[in-house]
Amino acid sequence: MLFKRVLITGANGLLGQELVAQMSRHPEYDLLATARGATPLFPENAGGYVPLDITDFAAVRRLFLDFTPDVVVNCAAMTQVDLCESERDACWKVNVDAVEHLAKCCLQHGSRLVQVSTDFVFDGANGPYRETDRPHPISFYGKSKWASENAARGAGLDRWAVARTILVYGTGRNLSRSNIALWVLDKLSRDEPIDVVTDQWRTPTYVVDLAAGIEKIVRYNRSGVYHLSGRELLSIHAFAHCIAEVFDLDASLIRPTDGARFRQTAARPPRTGFIILKAETELGFRPRSVREALRHLGRRLGLSVTAS
Ligand SMILES: NC(=O)c1ccc[n+]([C@@H]2O[C@H](COP(=O)([O-])OP(=O)(O)OC[C@H]3O[C@@H](n4cnc5c(N)ncnc54)[C@H](OP(=O)(O)O)[C@@H]3O)[C@@H](O)[C@H]2O)c1
Repeated sequence: MLFKRVLITGANGLLGQELVAQMSRHPEYDLLATARGATPLFPENAGGYVPLDITDFAAVRRLFLDFTPDVVVNCAAMTQVDLCESERDACWKVNVDAVEHLAKCCLQHGSRLVQVSTDFVFDGANGPYRETDRPHPISFYGKSKWASENAARGAGLDRWAVARTILVYGTGRNLSRSNIALWVLDKLSRDEPIDVVTDQWRTPTYVVDLAAGIEKIVRYNRSGVYHLSGRELLSIHAFAHCIAEVFDLDASLIRPTDGARFRQTAARPPRTGFIILKAETELGFRPRSVREALRHLGRRLGLSVTAS
């Protein structure tokens, strides 16, 4: 059996934890997970772990010398969109400078790089988008992620891939950030009203499907840009309604609002969403429907869900 030595960065995040869990089930991967924390948040038996801040260039270089990865999947990023707008230097350091450095190390060691990116590289004027559509970010976070894609693309690597995704939801251990599904579940189960936008459209992505798509990029040595998201284009308000329906919660607590009524530091693209035909055809990417994904999430959380 041919082993692939896979280095995962940002392994304690929502995507990182799920990717480690899934890839550790495949014996052909020799996995090394890294994240900023002293200890891993994923189950102990899921593979090796080393603390790594990707902005510590000397530590990154040492790790490449020690582990000599065949593939690097970079899940580490500053992901808080408003924080990226207000703390631009810190954002650029993690989201761009560190990716340029990772790409340089990949070039030196003959490794492949899979960089995770976002629908926020688009302006949201006319989604859903294909991989060939021209990015035009309207937030600093979006600009930094577009620059991170260019860092992967422009480093001179034989093989690089960009996996773009959208509004990711799911669960993990001690996550540093919540996500739309956990937030809606938390509020509605405590009978608290929530304001949710009707004028932002997305194809929400279940983290289990996203990790499966990225694993296929690694498995099939794919190069280029891939759109990995759910199939259904919904307003975030409609998505919150699906959550209420599947978990049998009171949907009347979901109050419709529009983006202009929220005071947010960074602009949000109104209508993104992805056309995922390329990933379906080339990778065999098969995301669950929104309701199937929410039921799967419910089982993981040990919550009761309505019948399909
Ligand atoms: N979540 C979404 O809705 C969404 C949508 C589109 C694209 N994406 C992209 O998907 C990827 C994964 O994000 P996610 O959803 O898993 O978000 P996440 O849960 O916020 O995970 C990001 C991880 O990166 C880590 N990190 C930040 N700076 C680091 C550094 N200098 N060195 C090492 N690790 C660092 C964070 O660690 P700490 O916990 O210590 O801060 C966090 O665990 C990102 O590239 C993001 O841009 C996410």
